Amino acid sequence: MDKLRVAVIGAGYWGPNLVRNLRNSPDWDLVAVCDLDPARAAKVIGDRSTVAIETDVSRLLEREDLDAVAIATPPRTHAAIAIAALEAGKHVLVEKPLASNLEDARRMVEVAAAQNRALMLDHTFCYTPAVRHIRQMISDGVIGDVLFVDSVRINLGLVQPDVNVFWDLAPHDLSILDFILPSGLDVGPVTATGADPLDTGQICVGHATLPLPGGGIANISVNWLSPTKIRSFVVGGRNRTLVWDDLNPMQRVALYDRGVEVTKRPDDLAERKQVNVSYRMGDIHVPALREAEALGLMVAEFAAAIREERAPLTDGHSGMRVLSVLHAIDESLATGQPVAPHKEVTV
Ligand SMILES: NC(=O)c1ccc[n+]([C@@H]2O[C@H](COP(=O)([O-])OP(=O)(O)OC[C@H]3O[C@@H](n4cnc5c(N)ncnc54)[C@H](O)[C@@H]3O)[C@@H](O)[C@H]2O)c1
Repeated sequence: MDKLRVAVIGAGYWGPNLVRNLRNSPDWDLVAVCDLDPARAAKVIGDRSTVAIETDVSRLLEREDLDAVAIATPPRTHAAIAIAALEAGKHVLVEKPLASNLEDARRMVEVAAAQNRALMLDHTFCYTPAVRHIRQMISDGVIGDVLFVDSVRINLGLVQPDVNVFWDLAPHDLSILDFILPSGLDVGPVTATGADPLDTGQICVGHATLPLPGGGIANISVNWLSPTKIRSFVVGGRNRTLVWDDLNPMQRVALYDRGVEVTKRPDDLAERKQVNVSYRMGDIHVPALREAEALGLMVAEFAAAIREERAPLTDGHSGMRVLSVLHAIDESLATGQPVAPHKEVTV
């Protein structure tokens, strides 16, 4: 099968990872790297390369030897670049978050549909073997109804000039929830708290609580100021609980056959205090997950979606659902109140 031809736009911190994975992929032929700073583009493609360097997106998009672009520029620039690329007939892969506001995001999704081109989000973690396994365990009923999710994503992070810590880190947690939960990101009113204790101008430490359908709850903790890096994700179910520690390659995912069972539940509300619980102490199972780089699987999915003329697994709508919760988080931070995410895009 002929390779698809792609250019990467943005050769800063993340762009080189896309370049490496597209270069290593049997599906893709990397034609060009575009950055406002040609030295960055030159550095990422290396010496004696036939990959072209471009510094201007409009000129890049005039090229006829391009099927797609992958955008790894700052979030505020995503919409304009993606829409120009879609209008030039290119398929688009865009880094998270889809855009810096819902209006831009909606326009991106509309233009992709009108141009009949793929618009895919790099929701990277959805392509890890661990998250795929968790999704399977939930959809097979192994976990049972999800009672709680607790996600901690903290490290020493660069304070970003244009986004707070939620917009930088929580797209990962939100896109994972969207991917693994049977109801996706169809969550209730979101409550968020945040702090900027070093007076950086951005919220650097944040907590968000998302009510899940059925009475469960998801908590997300994000932090740029933590000297220790923690990536811990716990899905507590009625039957079993799954613990994912992405920093522990020996035991990334563990399935606990342990939990709390309600053994007696009086019908009368007034007697609910008498509810009896028992604790189940079963085995812990550690599945053998294959080690595979998520970005490799992600770029393969981008090619497959284009060839099969179908929506990618993480499409523009998933990006909009994530954005709608990020907006609710911002509004809750500003008002101190729970805020319902925009329903139009959460179903
Ligand atoms: N998927 C992930 O896990 C992950 C991780 C980190 C960053 N990201 C995302 O990747 C994107 C880029 O983040 P980063 O940390 O690499 O940013 P960065 O600032 O390090 O790099 C951005 C690059 O884009 C270039 N650029 C800006 N505007 C441009 C334009 N109009 N045309 C061409 N080049 C332009 C800049 O010169 C710079 O080299 C963001 O959306 C970020 O959220 C994703």
